[in-house]
Amino acid sequence: MLAERIEKALNAQIKTEAESSQFYLAMASWAETHGLNGTAKFLYQHSDEERMHMLKLVKFVNERGGHAEVPALSQPPKDFESINNIFQTLLDHETKVTAEINKVVDICLQEKDYTTHNFMQWYVSEQIEEEALAREIMDKLKLIGADKGGLYLFDRDLSLIQPEAE
Ligand code: FEO
Repeated sequence: MLAERIEKALNAQIKTEAESSQFYLAMASWAETHGLNGTAKFLYQHSDEERMHMLKLVKFVNERGGHAEVPALSQPPKDFESINNIFQTLLDHETKVTAEINKVVDICLQEKDYTTHNFMQWYVSEQIEEEALAREIMDKLKLIGADKGGLYLFDRDLSLIQPEAE
């Protein structure tokens, strides 16, 4: 059985993952309407991955005798300044998500809930990969600068990134 505090923290994380999914969906839609089809494909995949992160939590909470809540979500932005702005926003967002995951892990230790602690390690590793990928993308964008040909190749390369296996 989950302690109330753990259930609350996991439900908050369900909301964070769901909002991440909506956020990246909004970015994907913006990219698709700005001729950046490779970027859009990458972001649609990323949005799906966030939904998977949410579902994994929903199932865990319910399996452990809690009740996963499906939350109301805030409206993500409709417009973004540029592709750089999108990936910087994504990186900043993931950094915040990492801090939230760490808080959940901390609560698990305080409550001596080692099962949930173990479950959360998957998210800890996932955050390392996501932050690293976002930083790599930002580094590439900085290299490209205002080079339109570079941006064309960047967009094409992003379409080749395969979604992660669970
Ligand atoms: Fe589910 Fe991007 O963290």
